Amino acid sequence: MNTVEHRRPERTRTLRASRWLFGLAVAVVGGAIMLPGCGQREVQVSFSKDVMPILQASCHECHLPGGKGTTESGLLLDSYENLMKGTKFGPVVKPGNGLGSPFNQVLEGRVDKSIRMPHGGTQIFESKVKTLRAWVDQGAKNN
Ligand code: HEC
Repeated sequence: MNTVEHRRPERTRTLRASRWLFGLAVAVVGGAIMLPGCGQREVQVSFSKDVMPILQASCHECHLPGGKGTTESGLLLDSYENLMKGTKFGPVVKPGNGLGSPFNQVLEGRVDKSIRMPHGGTQIFESKVKTLRAWVDQGAKNN
């Protein structure tokens, strides 16, 4: 045993050290690549391409000027600016915080049944609810 240990060429140690360094380098570079997208490796959601079409299909029926939802809550969903303005009580979208945004809460059913959206209408597809959540979590940008 000992002799084997003794005869181990110096090269093995260098090799070991360089392997270790290589591993470290991979970890550092890998970490740097992962960081910017940390926790949200899903694709970037676009307001104009993804969010607006959902609002048009599922919300405009009641949240355009004169609509029931607009009249009762003040929430107009015809543009980015009006969505960000929110209801007469204030903003419903907190950029970067879908969990705390009333906009997402009413859609995800995290509120009393009486104010689940779309109000009285058919529940919208789970995938759309997720898209709207991702958009808010990604900063609710006008992109
Ligand atoms: C069938 C009509 C109708 C549809 C469709 C509808 N809403 Fe509403 N919405 C209302 C009414 C009425 C109110 C006001 C009463 C209330 O707050 O429940 C309202 C209020 C809201 C509020 C404010 C909730 C609060 O009290 O803080 C949000 C946010 C909202 N709607 C989002 C949406 C979104 C997003 C959609 C589309 C997915 C949608 N609504 C579709 C009728 C509708």
